[in-house]
Amino acid sequence: MCTFRKLIRSVDKSSELLRITQTVDACYELGALLKQAEAGHKAILFESVQNSPFTVAGGLLTSPGRFGQSLNHPAGNNLSQAEHARLVQGAIQSPIPATEQSFAPSKDIVLTGDEIDCRTLPVPTFFKEDTGPFMTAAVGICRNSANEIINAGFYRVLMLGRNSLAVSASPSSGLYGIMQKDKKAGRITHIALIIGAEPALLMAAAAKVPENISELDVAGALQNESLATITAESSDLFVPANAEFVIEVAINHAQVIENTMGEFGDCYGTQLASVGEVKAITHREKPIFHTIMAGAGKEHNALGLIVLYGIEPDLNKQLQAAFPQVKAVRVLHDPPRMGTQGDVYIVMQNGHACAANQIIEHVYSLTCGPYPISRTIRRVVLLDEDIDITNNREVNWAISIRATSASDYLLYDNFQGSGGLVRIGIDARAHDGNKTQRLLIPGARDFHLDDYQ
Ligand SMILES: Cc1cc2nc3c(=O)[nH]c(=O)nc-3n(C[C@H](O)[C@H](O)[C@H](O)COP(=O)(O)O)c2cc1C
Repeated sequence: MCTFRKLIRSVDKSSELLRITQTVDACYELGALLKQAEAGHKAILFESVQNSPFTVAGGLLTSPGRFGQSLNHPAGNNLSQAEHARLVQGAIQSPIPATEQSFAPSKDIVLTGDEIDCRTLPVPTFFKEDTGPFMTAAVGICRNSANEIINAGFYRVLMLGRNSLAVSASPSSGLYGIMQKDKKAGRITHIALIIGAEPALLMAAAAKVPENISELDVAGALQNESLATITAESSDLFVPANAEFVIEVAINHAQVIENTMGEFGDCYGTQLASVGEVKAITHREKPIFHTIMAGAGKEHNALGLIVLYGIEPDLNKQLQAAFPQVKAVRVLHDPPRMGTQGDVYIVMQNGHACAANQIIEHVYSLTCGPYPISRTIRRVVLLDEDIDITNNREVNWAISIRATSASDYLLYDNFQGSGGLVRIGIDARAHDGNKTQRLLIPGARDFHLDDYQ
């Protein structure tokens, strides 16, 4: 089983960890350096951060390869995204229950009452228009009072003061529903914010897991070993025994504030956040504070994509059942297509007459994985069999050469779930003979330059 600090050691062993010993400012300087490290495929450890006694680590789970490395998967660094998606879906289907223990490194140090001071945490401010410093790697754990199952997810946390912060749960998150029910019933919502969780829990928290299954148990299945937990200090929540930090928060639903932060798609996003009071902070000896670069950072994007893993296989299955002439489907959510901006490429059997609007409108009417397609996809592109949909250049070629008249472009702004955002259909299939054919050298495969030298 791999803890957060074991992951750092493993990345260090592969010579992919930068250590920064100079003191850095958590406001802008830390984020600017973290972004550069990620761009150079390096993780980074800030050993000294102004006004904080704690070390910061970032740029760790930036790719399927790092997921493989942290899960001790036989494919290690070569784990593909498709194989990682299968692992996550498999873990959701066969969870391993978490176990409770009475001793935990995450409680080496226990701070309560006046000992709590969140201002000593090395929380970065990333971008110019950000509302303030944000914890971006906090896995929020809470109990769903409807079924007593423990829920976990990533929720950005705005720091407000010594013992005050705000947790942003979007309306599509499980946490939002749990808090709405608690608010109605006049109940406090207890949330434990886990910083430096096991990599398996980071992946499980990023996934969309059915309400009757706990992400803690999905994490156990991912790491092939039950997740060790311990009861929290200020509530009956179970929290990971091996975490670096646990920040226990009580939300009484009295105050909700708006906040802005750099999002997945490299643009600002504004969310509402519930203000909570910090009841306890526990941490390891010499704890390491995990920070995920905000905006279109590699770790943010790699973990953020996990929630969308189920969409492509589901869409493929549903489309081929409705339209046997569909040959292949690809869903893209990589930057800059994150959030509500994804693309779907569909290869249709050559020469099969099928009205573009018929299939495109069908795609936008489907729900695949946890979301309606009209929520996460902005462009649906129809292509011929001679286009390799795994090759973006070929897809863009087909759009530029074959989708040349206004009737090849369909615009919609009325699909349920699209939030009024425009949705596009592009018919990039060849319509008019030679002009749109790909250049072909007959017999090219039989001529080899080596044979002529
Ligand atoms: C790094 C990162 C940051 C995220 N930030 C937020 C956030 O601020 N609010 C939110 O609702 N979802 C956020 N998400 C997405 C949720 O964590 C994800 O949808 C998760 O499945 C929600 O779990 P839940 O539905 O069980 O509450 C983030 C995901 C990642 C990977």
